[in-house]
Amino acid sequence: MTRPLALITGASSGIGAAYARLLAPDADFVLVARRADRLHDLADELRRAGSAAETLPADLATREGIAKVTDRLSAGDVPLLISNAGVGGYAPLIDVDPARIDDLLTLNAEAHVQLVRAALPGMLAADDGTIVTVASLLAFSAGQTGPRPPRRTLYAAAKAATVAFTRTLGHELADTGIRTQVVCPGPVATEFHQGVGQTVPASMTAEDVARASLTGLRLGETICVPGLEDQSAALDALLAAESAVLSGGRRSDLASRYRQPLPK
Ligand SMILES: NC(=O)c1ccc[n+]([C@@H]2O[C@H](COP(=O)([O-])OP(=O)(O)OC[C@H]3O[C@@H](n4cnc5c(N)ncnc54)[C@H](OP(=O)(O)O)[C@@H]3O)[C@@H](O)[C@H]2O)c1
Repeated sequence: MTRPLALITGASSGIGAAYARLLAPDADFVLVARRADRLHDLADELRRAGSAAETLPADLATREGIAKVTDRLSAGDVPLLISNAGVGGYAPLIDVDPARIDDLLTLNAEAHVQLVRAALPGMLAADDGTIVTVASLLAFSAGQTGPRPPRRTLYAAAKAATVAFTRTLGHELADTGIRTQVVCPGPVATEFHQGVGQTVPASMTAEDVARASLTGLRLGETICVPGLEDQSAALDALLAAESAVLSGGRRSDLASRYRQPLPK
């Protein structure tokens, strides 16, 4: 029996590497990240476990890096895409170097879209496939005030875009054999936090997150929040709040509070 080919981005450490280790030896792999040495080490480990593994070093914050991976996906032989690579870049917007904005949004939001778009024709032709994007619990943090959640404007925006993208895509693909899932972890003990210069006391392991996602796929979950106990109640409440804003705001006349003279 042929094993499915899984393309995993951000496979050189943390959650991406954990997905690969959990899927081996029942899948073969295309491993993507910038650090080629790490990818080669993981590929060797996966081969020893009985999987085939290619490495594809690429910088997904650049158009060239994305094109390397979309070219590979356009071969149409990847039924499992785990689009996981990301960085924090936590800072108040005023402290973000304008030259880095494009990189952060490209890696944390656009790369998912481009990779999924490239994988879709092969999956649609086979009427089979699985698409996982890794976002963050911080996708839901925009309304929160206080010292912790803010100061990560671009990260929250990019992750919220990934949640909206993957959820909406799931509806678009509902009549196909393609499954989608967006994963929204809270703090996870990985190298990610070295990048944002903070230690996180209560962290899940990368393996826990990957395990939750793979189990969630079996359960048919299109959103996976690894630490959330009563997920269906929370997501029902989220859907109800979204529906109230959407259906309440979709009117041709102004809400009554706006029907007053403009101040001079
Ligand atoms: N750790 C957390 O607390 C946490 C919480 C919620 C969500 N997440 C999300 O989980 C995902 C995985 O993060 P992690 O926690 O596993 O952190 P990690 O250990 O730092 O892994 C990040 C992965 O992304 C890759 N990557 C970073 N920049 C890249 C680029 N420009 N091009 C290609 N690959 C790049 C890294 O590889 P190279 O450096 O070799 O390129 C690495 O393999 C990210 O999307 C992150 O936003 C993490």
